[in-house]
Amino acid sequence: MVSTIIGIFIAYLILIFYFNLKHPEIRWNWKKINTSNLNFPKYFFWGTASAAHQVEGNCNNNNWYKWENSIDENGTPRIKNNQKSGNACNHWNLYKEDIELIKKLGVSHYRISIEWSKIQPNKNEFDTEAIHHYSEVINNLIANNITPVITLHHFTNPIWFDKMGGFEKEENIHFFVNFCKKIFSLYSKKVKLWCTINEPGVYAFMGYFMGMFPPGTKNIKLAITVLTNLLIAHTRVYYALKKLPNGKHNKIGIVKNIMQFDPYRRWHFLDWIVCKITNKVYNKMTLSYLEKGRANIYIPFIINHKYEDKQAAGATDFFGLNYYSHIHLKFQLKNKEFLVNKYLKNDIMTDMPYAMYPEGFYRAIKLVSKLNKPILITENGVADKKDNIRSLFISRYIYAMNKAINEGVNVIGYFYWTLMDNFEWVEGYNMKFGLYKVNFSTQKRELREGSKTFIKIINETKK
Ligand code: GCO
Repeated sequence: MVSTIIGIFIAYLILIFYFNLKHPEIRWNWKKINTSNLNFPKYFFWGTASAAHQVEGNCNNNNWYKWENSIDENGTPRIKNNQKSGNACNHWNLYKEDIELIKKLGVSHYRISIEWSKIQPNKNEFDTEAIHHYSEVINNLIANNITPVITLHHFTNPIWFDKMGGFEKEENIHFFVNFCKKIFSLYSKKVKLWCTINEPGVYAFMGYFMGMFPPGTKNIKLAITVLTNLLIAHTRVYYALKKLPNGKHNKIGIVKNIMQFDPYRRWHFLDWIVCKITNKVYNKMTLSYLEKGRANIYIPFIINHKYEDKQAAGATDFFGLNYYSHIHLKFQLKNKEFLVNKYLKNDIMTDMPYAMYPEGFYRAIKLVSKLNKPILITENGVADKKDNIRSLFISRYIYAMNKAINEGVNVIGYFYWTLMDNFEWVEGYNMKFGLYKVNFSTQKRELREGSKTFIKIINETKK
């Protein structure tokens, strides 16, 4: 008996030791690091990013508009403080002024998204004014030596598409493919870099598992179906655009947010298990789809999902990586919740419920480099209303990215999220990610002190 217990104990220790060895939670001694010691390849470029619904204003024909104007089952508004995207930053009208602000940063690229509901307000209607508008934005950017990068789907769907069940149904995907073909035919002569879908995992999990994004569903199986359909949509868009004029030479890629789930107690088997499952669903499923064409998920007693498409393997010209932070999970059996998000004592917190963790950026870059595709950092930034940690965040995260590059990883560019404060989805206007601070009553923009570190790095790396 005693020897069996000792045996189990030793096996447990070996397993935990193995997990720790295989998935180390990297931590660097920042006191010993000189973050200004940077070295970027000649072709590397800098940019900043935004998304239509968050900045344009007047997005009143999409699923988010409906969501912002609805309440949950307890009568609580969906968005913090009952805020609505409304006029947002009025970027639709102020884009010329905003391009001036982009220039002042010294960046060469600007990532925008095209609001599907404005281009195609109804199933059978394309809006010429909206088409003209984006064409003007593109022309203006180019005239100012800023390379436009387009995202075709950044969380929002037209209401007509949503009413049909949106991405819950595979048979709806072709509507999105048609929209993408239309946009590509219009702008692909001038726009060379294309992002198909922004963060399919976030869309699926926030909307269908956490219930915090529209449509507010909490159903893990549906979440996996939606995620799979978004991945299928990416592949179909990829091949459809490749067949169009300019398709071969333009670069088309998916954008994925990587968020590591690390065990709060590194010696606790159950913390490891919940992290393994969450990582699998949130990160690995998409990576394995892109690498091998397989999107399989098996969670005992809950889900056994299989999807395979050989054509999907490698069907992305680059990997768009959005990275912010990691999350510590702790297993518990309280209040019907199996896991909690825990912070460590020394964590430097951002205004979002996550800590500053540049080492995680390095880890994420290393992880996605296994796909053997050029990596584009499509988003990285910090919500920091007081502007206390923005400068530190920028210098440490860029250092972490540079370290991966110096170790041979092919990162081609970096977009800071975001140009100016904007509508941060469920968080409304409370989260201040902007390089420029926005006064939403006057629409005045003002460069934040902390953002100057970004400008400085860009200038120095250009030398
Ligand atoms: C996302 C989106 C952005 C966010 C940004 C900050 O990751 O949710 O791509 O729209 O605003 O990431 O949270």
